[in-house]
Amino acid sequence: MYKLTGVMFSQEEIEAKVIELAKQIEKDYKGQDLLLVGILKGASVFVADLMRKIDLNVNIDFMSVSSYGSATVSSGTVKILKDLDVDIKDKNVLIVEDIIDSGITLRNLYDTLMTREPRSLKLCTLLNKPARKKVDVDVDYVGFVIEDKFIVGYGIDYDEKYRNLPYIAIVEDVED
Ligand code: IMP
Ligand code: MG
Repeated sequence: MYKLTGVMFSQEEIEAKVIELAKQIEKDYKGQDLLLVGILKGASVFVADLMRKIDLNVNIDFMSVSSYGSATVSSGTVKILKDLDVDIKDKNVLIVEDIIDSGITLRNLYDTLMTREPRSLKLCTLLNKPARKKVDVDVDYVGFVIEDKFIVGYGIDYDEKYRNLPYIAIVEDVED
C-alpha cells in the first residue's frame, strides 16, 4: 500500500528556492523579454509561483507531452498532446519542468523546440533526480537535487493524486 511517509521540502523551503531561482533568471535575462513554457500538468504550480517572482516582461504558455521512450531518444521527438499557442521563433524561451528523472522527456522536448528556431532555449526544473539519469540534459536552473525517492505534491502526482499538497512529500510502498 502506498503512503506518504515524510516531508522532503516544506512550503517555506520551496518558496525560498523559487525566489532564489526567479532572481537568478531575472539577472540572466535583464532587459529582455522571456517566454516561460510550463510542462503540464506537474509544473503548473511551480511555474505559477515562479512567474510572480520574476520582475521582467514575462509571457507564459503551456505544453503537454509524453515521451515515446528511450528507443527514439536519438530522433529527438516527443509526442505533443497539447502544443504551444505561440510561435517561439526569435524568442527567449525557458522550459519549466517539475522533475527530471531519466531526462528523456526534457531531452526530446528540447530538441523538438530547437527546430522552431528560438533566439535562446534554456531549461529550468524544480527537482532533479540524477541517480536515474539515462540521457544527458544540460539544465540551466535546478531547484533541488534529490535522491532516488518517489515524491508528490506542489503539482506533482502519484496516480493523479496529491498535486494539491503545498509541500513535497515522499511516497513509499509500505506494509499494511
Ligand atoms: P523523465 O523523462 O524520466 O525525466 O520523466 C520526468 C517525468 O516523470 C516528470 O515530469 C514526472 O511527470 C515524472 N516523474 C519522475 N519522477 C517522479 C516522482 O518522483 N514523482 C512523480 N512523478 C515523477
Ligand atoms: Mg511532468
